[in-house]
Amino acid sequence: MPDNSEPRWVRVAALDALPLHALLQVAVAGTQLVLAHAPEGLFACQAMCPHEMANLSHGRLEGGRLVCPRHLASFALADGAVSAGWMIPKLQVYPVRVVDGAIEVDEAAVLRAPPFRKTTTWDLTARRT
Ligand code: FES
Repeated sequence: MPDNSEPRWVRVAALDALPLHALLQVAVAGTQLVLAHAPEGLFACQAMCPHEMANLSHGRLEGGRLVCPRHLASFALADGAVSAGWMIPKLQVYPVRVVDGAIEVDEAAVLRAPPFRKTTTWDLTARRT
């Protein structure tokens, strides 16, 4: 079993593939993430919005926040905090760095704190009385 307490950096993209103001979807340890190149820096977070699972790689960057393309909740790139008025979990954000022109994400952090996943369970045997 791998030790997830130490960072395990994995290359996910070339820095050239992510110009300023761009978003890029990548996979780390089977989890879809979004890389964001904002004026405030480079960030990595879960790709699916914790509200209704919209793909945040189709969103936009605005003032250090990632704006969801579906219902326009926004998330702080630094810590994943959601904009006021939303009763949903914060976005999971992950350590990211650039080494020799390549963007790397800490895979161990992704495994330690996987994204919140909204699931719906249907009980088709239940009957109303
Ligand atoms: S799906 Fe993102 S705010 Fe609703």
